[in-house]
Amino acid sequence: MQKNDNKNIILTGFMGTGKTTVGKLLARKLKRDFIDTDKLIEDRQGITIPEIFTDLGESAFRQMEADIARELGEREGLVISTGGRLMLDPANVAALSGRGRVFCLVATPEEILSRLKNDKDNRRPLLDVPNPGEHIVKLLQERKTGYQRFLKLATGDKQPADVTEKLLDFIQRSPGYFTIDSPAQSYEFIVGNGILPFTCELAGTDGMVVIITDTVVGKLYAQSCGSVDHVITIPPGSQQKTLTAVQTICDQLLDTGFDESGTIIALGGRKVCDISGFVVGTFMRGVRLVQCPTSLPAMIDIIVGGKSSADLPQDKNLMDTFKQPSMVIADVVTLTTLPAEDLLSGMAEVTKYRLRADDAPTKDILNILQALSSPVVAAAK
Ligand code: S3P
Repeated sequence: MQKNDNKNIILTGFMGTGKTTVGKLLARKLKRDFIDTDKLIEDRQGITIPEIFTDLGESAFRQMEADIARELGEREGLVISTGGRLMLDPANVAALSGRGRVFCLVATPEEILSRLKNDKDNRRPLLDVPNPGEHIVKLLQERKTGYQRFLKLATGDKQPADVTEKLLDFIQRSPGYFTIDSPAQSYEFIVGNGILPFTCELAGTDGMVVIITDTVVGKLYAQSCGSVDHVITIPPGSQQKTLTAVQTICDQLLDTGFDESGTIIALGGRKVCDISGFVVGTFMRGVRLVQCPTSLPAMIDIIVGGKSSADLPQDKNLMDTFKQPSMVIADVVTLTTLPAEDLLSGMAEVTKYRLRADDAPTKDILNILQALSSPVVAAAK
């Protein structure tokens, strides 16, 4: 397996989403040490979290969290469950995510409230208010953007053992996991084998989800991405990136009632990924974009993320913009249906870029792409 194997697994998410329960189960399965940051703080201080809040104040508690994030960021091979706000501080994310894979567990306000009511041993000082249900909704809203950047896993109506199995399955299928830092937004680039079915859940949106794809790829893989509200298909080939195609996509988005709370999944080769980025970057700047590239050149293009364009009759790519995705799912299973020549030329691109790449994350992604794609290419020859 790949070098990512020993990365810490970090579970974040709102209070009562099951981080500690799932974290313990996962640690047992992976035979790793488990650390709950709240418990570690309580053990070190010799008093409970509510007592820390009352006696020392919330800011002292947040400082303790920051110190622990820095300390644990130096270690490897752990499963870590964090306090609900710890990963909303960018400095803590920077400290922990370098050697870790972060997952955000999610549940509805009602599910959270009912779990917290049953968890009498762990009082949450922030929810010691007259109407905790209302306060949960308010806090969730305030923290929404902060949690948004992480891969999600719903725990609401599921048994902890089932959530753990799903997480384990995904981790084992996705040896390539990278955080791409860009000034506009940081995002996860995941390379794996059979990971397309996790797409919708990992994106974890409350709004509409629309796939943009072409007729060939759509037929093969649109259903694999999970349950979506609408699939927009454009014809394959050179007509894909015209302004007429842009117009067709925008018309359909408007017809379906798509708005800024929605997510677009771009599923296809270079052209589909390009034009989807162009639509999202120009027509609906705020919308989330999940890129699911299904060819090797598209996977490589997205490593140097954000560049998206449309063609004019005079020449290709004359209209362009930048739109960073909020997540990239590069599933090598999609390469199995490519013609052998496309695969071989894609592999040649990977090798060429590997030789040229001078920055570590790009080289790592290319190495993993090459490792995962080699068996597919060998089988196609
Ligand atoms: C907090 C969450 C709690 C604990 C503290 C503050 C928060 O952890 O760190 O009460 O601000 O969300 P859990 O998420 O494990 O409940």
